[in-house]
Amino acid sequence: MVSLDAPLTLPSGLVLPHRVVKAPMTENLADADNQPTAAHERLYGRWAAGAAGGLLITGNLMVDRRYLERSRNIVADRHLDVARLAAVREAGRSSPMIAQLNHPGRQTNRFLASRPVAPSADAGAVRMMGLFARPRALAPLEIESIVDGFGQAAARCEQAGMDGVQVHAAHGYLLAQFLSPYVNRRADEWGGDLAGRSRALVSAVRAVRASTGPNFTVAVKLNSSDFRHGGFTEDDAEAVVGMLVEEGVDLIEISGGTYENPALFGEVEGLRGETSEKEAYFAGFARRVRSRAASVPLILSGGIRTRSAMEELLSGDGVDLIGLGRPLAIDPDYTRRILDGDEGAALPRYTLPTVAGLAGESEWYERQIARIGAGQAPTTALHPAVAAARFVGGEMGRGLAGRRRRARLVAQG
Ligand SMILES: Cc1cc2nc3c(=O)[nH]c(=O)nc-3n(C[C@H](O)[C@H](O)[C@H](O)COP(=O)(O)O)c2cc1C
Repeated sequence: MVSLDAPLTLPSGLVLPHRVVKAPMTENLADADNQPTAAHERLYGRWAAGAAGGLLITGNLMVDRRYLERSRNIVADRHLDVARLAAVREAGRSSPMIAQLNHPGRQTNRFLASRPVAPSADAGAVRMMGLFARPRALAPLEIESIVDGFGQAAARCEQAGMDGVQVHAAHGYLLAQFLSPYVNRRADEWGGDLAGRSRALVSAVRAVRASTGPNFTVAVKLNSSDFRHGGFTEDDAEAVVGMLVEEGVDLIEISGGTYENPALFGEVEGLRGETSEKEAYFAGFARRVRSRAASVPLILSGGIRTRSAMEELLSGDGVDLIGLGRPLAIDPDYTRRILDGDEGAALPRYTLPTVAGLAGESEWYERQIARIGAGQAPTTALHPAVAAARFVGGEMGRGLAGRRRRARLVAQG
């Protein structure tokens, strides 16, 4: 049996001292020019202190300033203040740390961009409280430029001292949109069969490799499925895992779902945790792809809470690493406590059984993250309705106000 405190060396040579990983969580703490701030430094210092040296994956950094996932994401384009990102990395120096890179595609809210982009326009706007506008289809040259953006962003993360990057191809963002036959109805080389639909992801991984050093860790976050009829299936996902192995990635994190079908938070009908404790939404898929992943380590994220579930997953021959998200937003010392023998527990959490719940739930946890970034303790006293209202109000105010600033920087090239 693999114990939680057993070290693991990734194919890149990066040594992880134990098996618990901080999963990526949007911080939404950048300044008005989408640069890293002192709040990020405090946050990662705090998370590193509670992680017992375990791997930290940052929230998603954007590769294109025009299309953000949240108004205060860090943007890793050529305007990135690399020294400030280096200060964030330095704050978390007791842990290995990789930065997640993302392009949200059609999941860019309407305050941030009145016309988001997608592989094709056929699937229409993301259906979520009217927050998203109808996207337009990307031209082939634009796709190449986005792919290049992943490579350039990774090079900047390497300069900042990050140990690697994670390419985000899950949760319904642009690379996951390319993978999904429901969203991607292109007839050119970027669509069609799985080889075409995975071209954007595979090209992004190659661009990252080509612009970084040989020991730089390249990870991918992938959906098991997008939980939609006619969408990306477990069969597709298994084949993509095989492609990523061929590409020589160092680490694959498994999750699932999209904004419209939020399986990542367990909010999909019929989705049940699979351990004896009914935790780990995607454990069955991890078991299924274990042999396809060959020697590439797998992180499983989603719904894992207790030490016994973690041990069961590690010994059940599917999973190498345990990803924790929401527990660490409520208790930054959760990992250390688990490693010290604590059993852990289900968390108090805010949930609505509709897609509106995703915005409210994310914001509720983001407020906790903001408190840690401000040097305060998380509080469960925050009212869920206040969190949901803040999501819309905050994105509207900051999103609209930031448009001109962002356009000015984009115009500078
Ligand atoms: C506030 C918040 C922000 C998140 N941001 C990201 C993100 O930037 N990238 C990502 O891949 N997943 C993101 N996630 C999803 C988590 O990485 C994880 O997959 C999910 O929360 C399920 O794990 P958990 O049950 O341990 O929370 C976010 C989750 C939360 C709660």
